[in-house]
Amino acid sequence: MRSLAGSRALDRPLIRTMASARRQAAETIPSTPIRVLRTVDAVRKWRKPQYLDHRIVGLVPTMGALHEGHLSLIRAAARETHHVVVSIYVNPAQFGIKEDLASYPVTWETDCKILRELDRELADDGGNLGRISAVFAPTTSEMYPSGFPGQEVDSKGSFVVMTPISDVLEGGTRPTFFRGVATICMKLFNIVQPEKVYFGQKDVQQTVLIRKMVKDFMLPTEVIVGPTSREPDGLALSSRNVYLGERRRKVAPVLNRALQAAEAQYLNGAVDRESILKAANAVAVDTLNEQMTLAPEEGVKYEIDYISLADPSTMEELTEVDPKNGGIMSGAVKMLPVESPQPGEDLGHSGGPSVRLIDNIVLQPST
Ligand code: PAF
Repeated sequence: MRSLAGSRALDRPLIRTMASARRQAAETIPSTPIRVLRTVDAVRKWRKPQYLDHRIVGLVPTMGALHEGHLSLIRAAARETHHVVVSIYVNPAQFGIKEDLASYPVTWETDCKILRELDRELADDGGNLGRISAVFAPTTSEMYPSGFPGQEVDSKGSFVVMTPISDVLEGGTRPTFFRGVATICMKLFNIVQPEKVYFGQKDVQQTVLIRKMVKDFMLPTEVIVGPTSREPDGLALSSRNVYLGERRRKVAPVLNRALQAAEAQYLNGAVDRESILKAANAVAVDTLNEQMTLAPEEGVKYEIDYISLADPSTMEELTEVDPKNGGIMSGAVKMLPVESPQPGEDLGHSGGPSVRLIDNIVLQPST
């Protein structure tokens, strides 16, 4: 056995090995083989052999606060690709200066637990091509190497700007939102170089934007859009639902009901904008009127931001649906903070601020 003093030089690499083993251990989600990659360099090092081995990589971009909607995208990615990379990064550039960045739920521990459970499920399912191989969880300085350009409309920096799609609907009230989404997704696609990327139908305008970005910038990736996951009462799953609290949660499915009423018109043969939108607006307005008749400690108030009937490939408003192409019914409502909160009332995460909910239904083309 070597003496401690005599082995000092030799031990150095050993110490380094132990340190890197510790780092290695710290760089996986505990009790899983899922690597946690925090730098662009680490992703590139991990990615290169997969490329040489012709392994297909699927990317599921997220901002964390994982819910069933994300999990269904990860399951789809595991069925179709050898290695699933989940990115978790709350991108400040897609929040406006007055938006909810500061209170956006950051739930790293819970997300890891959810991914650990999902990994077990994926391992037990023989029908999968792959599993979750890595989580990419970078810092803002890693994602914006020249410095974060800021959240202002006139911020100077390197952005992917796509017009006019970024200016309408969600972009109408959130002028920097799609610039932020397109820019971060371009970065993520360049870093991970996935053969397939997975997005949820719930953010329909985002999916149209990403498809267009992939097409217009010739990105070598395939965009897969997974169906919207819903609560049993129709409310689309969203990380923002945690802000609602019990009272507003009960009323929140109103948007889905409104869109369904519009879809029913279309399925009954209506193609003109007026008939289709009238049905949706009636549900939204009647529900609000009902709420207004309730006592302040019971009622819920919301503002309808928009209810839209748009072209499925441009998101431009339609005056008439061409049944060969179909259309997108989408909407956004802002659920206002409850009036007269009652002692002990569940107001939701962060004391129940205003919550902007979005949803959509695809009016399917007739075959
Ligand atoms: O849909 C989201 O969660 C985000 O917009 C995305 C695609 C992860 C980009 O930050």
